[in-house]
Amino acid sequence: MTKRDLISPTDLNRDELENLLALAGRIKAKGTAPLLAGRTLGLLFFDPSLRTRVSFDVAITQLGGHCIQIDADREIYDLEPQEQVVMDGPAEEHVKDAARTLSRYVDVLGVRHLSKTGDWERDGQDLLLRSYAKHATVPVINLESTQHHPCQAFADMMTMQENLIRTQGRKLTLAWSNHPEPKSLGATHSVALTAATMGMDITLAYPLGFELDPEVMEDARRQAEQAGGTVRVINDLAEAADGCDVLYARSWGSHRYWGDPEREAMVKRSLQSWRVDRSIMARTNNAIFMHPLPVRRNVVATDNVLDGERSVIYDQAENRVHVQKALLVQLLK
Ligand code: CP
Repeated sequence: MTKRDLISPTDLNRDELENLLALAGRIKAKGTAPLLAGRTLGLLFFDPSLRTRVSFDVAITQLGGHCIQIDADREIYDLEPQEQVVMDGPAEEHVKDAARTLSRYVDVLGVRHLSKTGDWERDGQDLLLRSYAKHATVPVINLESTQHHPCQAFADMMTMQENLIRTQGRKLTLAWSNHPEPKSLGATHSVALTAATMGMDITLAYPLGFELDPEVMEDARRQAEQAGGTVRVINDLAEAADGCDVLYARSWGSHRYWGDPEREAMVKRSLQSWRVDRSIMARTNNAIFMHPLPVRRNVVATDNVLDGERSVIYDQAENRVHVQKALLVQLLK
């Protein structure tokens, strides 16, 4: 049987996504039997995490299985993802050997790796993650990469369904927000693709220079068209908020300044008004407010929005557990 990996949200078609979300809903409502007793999940974190690492550990433990977490940046060897190279640089081990070895120990493998060489062409390929997926003989789950964060997007879609009843044709504004650091595009790309698959009307709001990856945009437009939704871009936060049902804030880095964080920080000094406050929320259709966390309070969004009655940020975090239980059951059944 061929193994399934989850690298991008579009690795699941709409039917598969709807089945996953339905199973996650049943698990949330009724709990689960220990369906994965004796199974082991390995998690490799090359970057920090609170929600992803804890929610996956909780998910597999409550399913009767076991989790091994590795701080991959500190605890394992430097890895080489390129094929057929002479390994006389700093890398001590090839991903092929690490992935094949780990596949003998664990039943499913999660990898978080945000590539930061400063070269967008290279970082945007998610080389290390894709090399793990290529060489592991067990399923590989993307725990957030430079390009994608599918588990976050699926939990977010579950949260939208809980609040909107139906998502088809509802208006999602995915709004860039200010942040002192250049953040990955993973969550933004994956939320846009997932919402497109579910037929939502998506408004992407960002200042010039903070465009999404062109291939992801093309894919999102194609998915939306197939599902009866739309994708548009507006370079003004207030205008983009008008009449939306969901306001999702998230910062992401610019391809234009990818290798030059100081220049990006300088550009962002004039973009501090890209922050969600009550006046922005007042323009929406009584929208729910979403953010994947961690969040810089009063930079990305004000306290009264984050703590307001339309904020669902902790439901998003909780739903990671339910969606990931459903995912693990489906990948390992
Ligand atoms: N949203 C999210 O993935 O959180 P962590 O970075 O804490 O895992």
